[in-house]
Amino acid sequence: MKTRIGILTGGGDCPGLNAVIRSVVKSAAKRGWETLGILGGFDGLLDPVRTRLLDYHEMDGLLYLGGTVLGTANKGRFAAKVGHGEARRIDPAILAEARANCEQLGLCGLVLVGGDGSLSIGQQCFEAGIPVVGVPKTIDNDLECTEVTFGFDSAVAFATDAVDRLRTTAQSHNRVIVCEMMGRYAGWIAAHAGIASGADVILIPEIPFHYESICRKIAEREAEGKNFTLIAAAEGAREADQDFVTQDDSGAVSEARLGGVGAMVAREVAQRTGKETRVCVLGHLQRGGAPTSFDRLLCTRFGAGAVRLIAEGKFGEMIALRSPDTVSVPILKAIGRLRTVPTDGDIVHTARDLGISFGD
Ligand code: F6P
Repeated sequence: MKTRIGILTGGGDCPGLNAVIRSVVKSAAKRGWETLGILGGFDGLLDPVRTRLLDYHEMDGLLYLGGTVLGTANKGRFAAKVGHGEARRIDPAILAEARANCEQLGLCGLVLVGGDGSLSIGQQCFEAGIPVVGVPKTIDNDLECTEVTFGFDSAVAFATDAVDRLRTTAQSHNRVIVCEMMGRYAGWIAAHAGIASGADVILIPEIPFHYESICRKIAEREAEGKNFTLIAAAEGAREADQDFVTQDDSGAVSEARLGGVGAMVAREVAQRTGKETRVCVLGHLQRGGAPTSFDRLLCTRFGAGAVRLIAEGKFGEMIALRSPDTVSVPILKAIGRLRTVPTDGDIVHTARDLGISFGD
């Protein structure tokens, strides 16, 4: 009997998931191990169990293919996150069923590829006796203990390109254009893409904004003869003393769906300045498509690193980037606290030094 490991992808899809799968399958095969893919996220571990043996030769082309060939879910019986940083305990009967199924499948290790929510589930699976190792995924880049999560660079590249494209319309029509980006309760995508695209205003959850300040920036630009303004707004950005803008009120039973702040800012700015204003919401486009070369490399390193963790018996640990190396950290340390953009860090200082306004 060959040594057998499993892999599952949890939470929202993200560029690079397939690249991790490829790396895990290839490096496991190099050791003479076989890899079983768990289908549809964590629920694939529950009866009726859904798996597929992943053949080494099937991995061709996965390095640059978006999405996940295993499928994923951010809902279901395993849901562990309900709100801003809150974790819910999973029913012990569900964990016991998953553990029994892992044993039945003969898994010596289970690579869990996911963000904060999925890794919180992973930690509970580990505590229930499943030999889990983690790979940090999320375009939001809000996970502790790793310099960066995979998917983030690809999302930033897309968002940067989007603002570049919006610039031409803003400039040609003398408009204010607000570009709303994902990121949940962290402003990493908006901060990085905002600077990389030369946006004039960046709105992030870490720095609550005031409309007076945004309008002042627009007026300053007009005084310099620049009759257009580009605003990069994180979906979690919020006006000072106001709550996050959400699309529904499902927060009590599942994680709130953020979104709508871009339209709100555009409306208010139009009223206050009299300028023609538009909004563009990037949404799930940021999660689609091929990963950048940075992410392909990171995913390949993470996947091979996760297999090394299994070989070393380091269960309950997650592979992480600490340049120039990958290291292993307890999953427990990475979850529970969101990593947000430091307001006194280099990214914010750099933006301010260039005259970019945070609306504060
Ligand atoms: O966590 C990744 C993310 O894309 C967030 O940036 C966003 O708020 C959320 O997922 C959207 O999730 P859904 O797929 O449920 O719309």
